[in-house]
Amino acid sequence: MTSELLQKARDFEARCGSQILASQRPAFHLTPTIGWMNDPNGFSLYKGEYHLFYQYHPYSNEWGPMHWGHVKSRDLITWERLPAALAPDCGYDDAGCFSGGAVEMPDGRQMLMYTGVRMERNPEGCIHEIQTQCIAIGDGVDYSKYEQNPVLTGKDLPEGGSVVDFRDPKVWREEDGTLYAVIGNRSADGSGAILLYRSADGRSWEFVCTLDACRNQYGGMWECPDFFPLDGKHVLFTSPQEMQPVGLEFHVGNGTVCLIGDQDPVGKGFTRQVVQAIDYGLDFFAPQTLLTPDGRRVMVAWMQNWATVGAKPSHCRWFGQYTVPRELAVRDGRLYQLPVRELEAFRGQCVAHRNIPVSGEISLPGVQGRILDMTVTVRPTGEESYRWFRIRVARDGEHETVIRYRPDQGTVKIDRTRSGLLHDIVHTRSFLVRCREGEIRLRIVMDRFSVEVFVNDGEQAASMVIYTRQEADAISFEAGGSVLMDVEKYDLVFPKEELA
Ligand code: FRU
Repeated sequence: MTSELLQKARDFEARCGSQILASQRPAFHLTPTIGWMNDPNGFSLYKGEYHLFYQYHPYSNEWGPMHWGHVKSRDLITWERLPAALAPDCGYDDAGCFSGGAVEMPDGRQMLMYTGVRMERNPEGCIHEIQTQCIAIGDGVDYSKYEQNPVLTGKDLPEGGSVVDFRDPKVWREEDGTLYAVIGNRSADGSGAILLYRSADGRSWEFVCTLDACRNQYGGMWECPDFFPLDGKHVLFTSPQEMQPVGLEFHVGNGTVCLIGDQDPVGKGFTRQVVQAIDYGLDFFAPQTLLTPDGRRVMVAWMQNWATVGAKPSHCRWFGQYTVPRELAVRDGRLYQLPVRELEAFRGQCVAHRNIPVSGEISLPGVQGRILDMTVTVRPTGEESYRWFRIRVARDGEHETVIRYRPDQGTVKIDRTRSGLLHDIVHTRSFLVRCREGEIRLRIVMDRFSVEVFVNDGEQAASMVIYTRQEADAISFEAGGSVLMDVEKYDLVFPKEELA
């Protein structure tokens, strides 16, 4: 049965979503049907199709009582819009249906697992949130919340765990049929921990262990975990609140952390060996992954930063976009990521220039545009080293978005100071890259409102949102010193813009 609140959201999105023109949205980055979107939820395979849900407030471009929006896809690039899946319409979730996951059940139905939030007055009279885990079962369009929700509450927490910060279950099924879920929690020391739970049927759950804990080292509360095997290792993702910078690895505010280590197959405990950021750009949070039928681990994330959500054009009827889905790998103890190979099917005409000498600034015939996939390789000429190299995209006389490499420092810096966002927020970020004798490869994936940079075949990624007017489509290359450069640029072409 569809509740009044869910029907209201479905009617609203059906009425208003189509009022947004395709040209006012990104061409291939997911945006909400209408209104506000944050974390990806329930990113999973169901009956041979990819399903993706999202934290959703249809009625404004601000965060509000959380619903789940819903889309599905066969290629991870073009998405079909489906009606909103969940509304905060029950006593245990009437303050919001927060983030969670999804899994196909043996009976052919799909189970959503999410955090139900309600408000409670404590004995001192203060109102605070109570977060519990809930499930809803459905057919890929309509879902019924389980009559005995919630399925995990404060009584299922390890000692000292907080009922106020207990959220974002990511659920999966292992080969023996057992369901597992990782859930973020705040422990007694005030910082985050990731808890592992197990269940035979999705309804009754037991605590297995604390997979890892922040101990006030990598941020505060740990939100939106994910946990999966990859290339012989286990990878734990989390998005901490209240991050402190650690050199150029993490930045202040809301960051993302990837812990690479091993899992003990019997006790299920996790030992971390490596800690790194997931994306080094300005806008990236709450990533979620799935496993494709051909065995690839694919990630999407909210291409946004909580601290800067106020920075948007006021007339915008949608807010929030997701990154291009990215294939992950662990190589030499590091996380690698590149856009899913399905993106290549949308490549149009190729413009290629090889061994171009650059000293000072140049632009190249056929190299411009705003919806494109471009790889630039730069190497020293052999005679002298260069001090810096930069690419300026989304350019006109007034605007530009800059990607700069400094071989002496081994840093890449992204800068969107002049990219249409007229707010006093952070517009630049720098990060360390591996030095390869002055050679660097930068793959730049651009859409109308974003730039994603992939360094050295996926060794690092840096994402940022831009709002530059679409006519600003010039691209230029400039070196302090002299370099040789290869450029390969494809326009990305979406004959029918599916996301409209
Ligand atoms: C992270 C987050 C989650 C929560 C959701 C609420 O971005 O704070 O922890 O479930 O957003 O919308």
